[in-house]
Amino acid sequence: MDFVKKTKRTHYCGDLNASHVGQTVVLMGWVDNRRDHGGLIFVDLRDREGLVQVVINPSENPSIKEIRNEWVLAIQGEVVARPDAMVNKKLKTGEIEIQANVAGVLSKAETPPFSSKDKNVTETTRLKYRYLDLRQERLQGFLKTRHEVAQLARQYLNENAFLEVETPILYKSTPEGARDYLVPSRVHLGEFYALPQSPQTLKQLLMVAGFDRYYQIARCFRDEDLRADRQPEFSQIDIEMSFVDQEDVIAMNEGLAKKVWKQIKGIDLPDIPRMTWQQAMDEYGIDRPDLRNPLKLKDLMNVVKDTEFKVFQDVLGRGGVVRGLAVPKAGDFSRARMDKLTDLAKRSGAKGLVWIKADASENLTTPIAKFFEESKLKEIFKAAGGEPNGAVFIVADDFEVACSALSSVRLELGQELDLIDKSQDRFVWITDFPALEYDAEQKRWVARHHPFTSPSEEGMDILVSGDQDKFGSMTAKAYDLVCNGYEIAGGSIRIHQSDVQDAMFRALGLTPEEVVKKFGFFVEALKYGTPPHGGIAWGMDRLVMILCETDAIREVIAFPKTTKAYDVMSQTPSTVSQDQLLELSLRLGVQAEKALSEKNQN
Ligand code: AMO
Ligand code: AMP
Repeated sequence: MDFVKKTKRTHYCGDLNASHVGQTVVLMGWVDNRRDHGGLIFVDLRDREGLVQVVINPSENPSIKEIRNEWVLAIQGEVVARPDAMVNKKLKTGEIEIQANVAGVLSKAETPPFSSKDKNVTETTRLKYRYLDLRQERLQGFLKTRHEVAQLARQYLNENAFLEVETPILYKSTPEGARDYLVPSRVHLGEFYALPQSPQTLKQLLMVAGFDRYYQIARCFRDEDLRADRQPEFSQIDIEMSFVDQEDVIAMNEGLAKKVWKQIKGIDLPDIPRMTWQQAMDEYGIDRPDLRNPLKLKDLMNVVKDTEFKVFQDVLGRGGVVRGLAVPKAGDFSRARMDKLTDLAKRSGAKGLVWIKADASENLTTPIAKFFEESKLKEIFKAAGGEPNGAVFIVADDFEVACSALSSVRLELGQELDLIDKSQDRFVWITDFPALEYDAEQKRWVARHHPFTSPSEEGMDILVSGDQDKFGSMTAKAYDLVCNGYEIAGGSIRIHQSDVQDAMFRALGLTPEEVVKKFGFFVEALKYGTPPHGGIAWGMDRLVMILCETDAIREVIAFPKTTKAYDVMSQTPSTVSQDQLLELSLRLGVQAEKALSEKNQN
């Protein structure tokens, strides 16, 4: 049909409104729905901007008679106002409809395996047919927001004299605390590239080169345990600046947050509060506190130190802590509910969870009643911030375990009791992180952020002295931006002196040979005139996820992977041919052969 072949679209379906009445338009889109009425066919025609109702007379357009959902049509017609009684307020284009003169089929469609309105489709099916799932208005909206965020970031950074520079994907290990994805080299048999966990060393080298201000929307690859907010490949808005201190980087990025929230949500963000890592851990038990949750931890050491309860005494005796969390309206929790919370605390490694609950007259009930005078119990309850009809939860353990256990109770009850004020996004900068932490399994110190982060002024002496006893107390010039309990950006001021960088690698237990092999090029570069510099990287997927008010990162990624790092649609990863392996001089090990044969049997 000539019309279909020759005509060009004039408008998007979803863009039409009363101002177009009287115009002749050409639309191309998918049949979202069809209804037959008195000899006329009513089609909801859909494209990326939305739906519009099209009325087609099949006797003039016989090819339309057989159309079904998801067929692709071209129509030419006149925009007419709907009579008042027929206006559909729920639809953006609901004041109008299109009276088609000509309609033709551009493409037929088989019945799709599911309709976008179907709520009972499994995640696996949706991912297998991701291109169909992406026809949903909701997911299209998310990807549009993602596009806007990328554009806003570029615009803001361009205005602030940043240069966009691309860095390689086939590269060397850039440690960010995860495993590397490796790519075998055919040209250099037996040798491997690593996909970057971030462009960290490369962006620093751009500072050495004198680019002064860099950004990139960078793809990063990390082989780590995945969660709802983590993907094996993800995007960072990656930023680095020369001749700056922490305040400069924070101010620049706070400006970006404000711009994004203003443009996308129409909200003027207030200045973002700050909190040291220590304060965050003391008050919330976590370094990415969700400030929308009002519950706070309290230190109970002073009230319990003179009691005889062995659990508390033992823990305090070995340098541990006793922390409490008061929860309003938890005074009527059943034993079963308390047991569930105890299990939750135990999953963080706690040995137990003491609870004290109060009725309206503040009569207390607790499994540890026999160990305490009633007045002491009251004192503990009060010190934790307990209220009538509320409960207090207590963990005695090493600092990190106590924090982690009470933080999970805090998160769980914040949700269950609906205490989280979702009407606003709450940001906080976390600063003064510890520089190193001791990894008991590896029996060595590891960098909390990454090995390129500068210690604080006081920390610098400790690092250079190599005094391991003091490593634990060394803080770093590192900062994270947290929003609603998600870490959405993290960065630091870098070490820019090669001897200090060397000292850091030594502190991390690398031998001089290992330093040369892994980072020789980098340490050498620092010798040739390196400006003081620092930067940050935003987790762009997480940022978009928060802006879209979803808690699944895969919803804001066009083609995401499952939590098993698998692409269901293309069935990736997959095996390769013997020839390809041979070419790379690679052979599968016993474990791999076994895994594959088990998979084939299933
Ligand atoms: P970091 O490792 O903190 O820092 O990463 C920066 C931000 O990236 C996001 N992010 C992730 N998002 C999705 N899936 C993942 N697996 C994932 N891992 C991290 C987080 C995080 O805040 N080179 C440094 C930055 C710097 O120092 O400038 C870095 O990569 O939102
Ligand atoms: P027990 O004397 O071991 O039966 O413990 C008495 C109560 O203290 C129980 O409710 C335990 O869950 C709790 N408990 C035991 N160890 C700890 C701990 N380290 N921190 C908090 N509560 C604990």
